[in-house]
Amino acid sequence: MPENIITIDGPAGSGKSTIAKILARELNLKYIDTGAMYRAVTLLALQNEVDCEDEDSLLELARNTDLELDSKSVDTDKYTTVRLNGKNVTDEIRGREVGSAVSIVSKLYGIRKYLVDLQKKFIKDGNAILEGRDTGSVVCPDAALKIYLTANLNERVRRRVLQVKDREQFSKRDLIKNEIISRDRIDSNRKNSPLIIPENAIVIDTSEMSIREVADRIKKLYLKKKKC
Ligand code: DC
Repeated sequence: MPENIITIDGPAGSGKSTIAKILARELNLKYIDTGAMYRAVTLLALQNEVDCEDEDSLLELARNTDLELDSKSVDTDKYTTVRLNGKNVTDEIRGREVGSAVSIVSKLYGIRKYLVDLQKKFIKDGNAILEGRDTGSVVCPDAALKIYLTANLNERVRRRVLQVKDREQFSKRDLIKNEIISRDRIDSNRKNSPLIIPENAIVIDTSEMSIREVADRIKKLYLKKKKC
């Protein structure tokens, strides 16, 4: 039921998660954080000492692991709850090690195909909002509304600094800036499903907008599409 699906893609720090969770709550949609799934597979690789570029071993490991995503976790102060074989790994997948390796894992064709199939299963009944890098271009190209969120680099770094500070993981602005630049480069230039503006997507630059303004703008666009 693509008419009840919204996709939000964009680079790190563009506001995708915050906005998607607000909209999921206010429009009563399932929230699918696809980045959390790539992070979970990356954690699997690290935990099992599988080389992040060893596609076959990693795919086998992923296929033999139960990956659960709580599509109802829409608290904007918390990350979506993720479980691997029943174990809660929500915090672990946000760690520094996973953050640095996730772009390598998400380049792998087999892993992408496996996770995209899972994402399609999660949304088969419609009524969902997905966020990531390829949700409007690959996972659900015929979604009712496709949004591409962006913001200038300084603003995206500022948001990430605020986000990680209280988690005391790494608070150095330069480190965060370099990580964002590196992830942007890898995500946008990879061969398989690079971060692009999906066809027919509406681009919203959130640099100068409040969270409420962005959420209201998307809500209006969605309700208008539903009426058509
Ligand atoms: O949104 P995030 O920062 O949690 O995503 C982590 C990484 O996962 C991101 O750098 C690229 C990858 N990713 C992807 O390749 N495709 C998606 N649909 C979502 C995330």
